[in-house]
Amino acid sequence: MPENILTILDRLTHGVYVIGVSHLERKNAFTASWVTQSSLDPPMLALGIAPTHKSYALLCAGGFFTVNVLGKGHGDKALHFGTPMKEDKLAAAAWHEAVCGAPILDSAIAWFECEAVAKHPSGDHMLVLGKVLRAELVDSEGLPLTYGDVRAIDPSRRMISTEPKPRG
Ligand SMILES: Cc1cc2nc3c(=O)[nH]c(=O)nc-3n(C[C@H](O)[C@H](O)[C@H](O)COP(=O)(O)O)c2cc1C
Repeated sequence: MPENILTILDRLTHGVYVIGVSHLERKNAFTASWVTQSSLDPPMLALGIAPTHKSYALLCAGGFFTVNVLGKGHGDKALHFGTPMKEDKLAAAAWHEAVCGAPILDSAIAWFECEAVAKHPSGDHMLVLGKVLRAELVDSEGLPLTYGDVRAIDPSRRMISTEPKPRG
């Protein structure tokens, strides 16, 4: 595998989303960029999620998740929900419940509500397939935030240097 593979992976384009999860009264949300459409009929989304995240246990227990599309200028939300914290992350945001109980951010420019229909190990992450049950375009003028806008705040990028190692 080439040493600069992370640099090359940066040439893949991603959006930035907040994934909402819930089980009974417990709710959480986290930032994810590894989200993509994986089927047209039925509409399905694929999500790469680290099994170590607090949200993963809730997703597995609840069986549903929401995908909140962040708009340009919502990098602060990407950082907030992308930072591990003991406190309730949702306390600092305006949100309401999807039919499944998972949170929908009031500031999302669009959202999807999905049923988790399959899970598959994918290296250090799990690949979760979600069948879209409902969706809403909240702000038809809103431009989606992209991973390139917020790459610098992704904690996983701070752990792995993409700078070429010195020779010798
Ligand atoms: C810009 C950005 C993108 C991220 N993308 C993902 C992702 O696609 N999948 C993932 O599992 N974690 C991703 N993370 C990391 C999680 O959001 C972060 O670890 C979060 O604190 C997990 O929350 P939880 O433990 O409360 O569930 C991303 C973080 C940031 C800032």
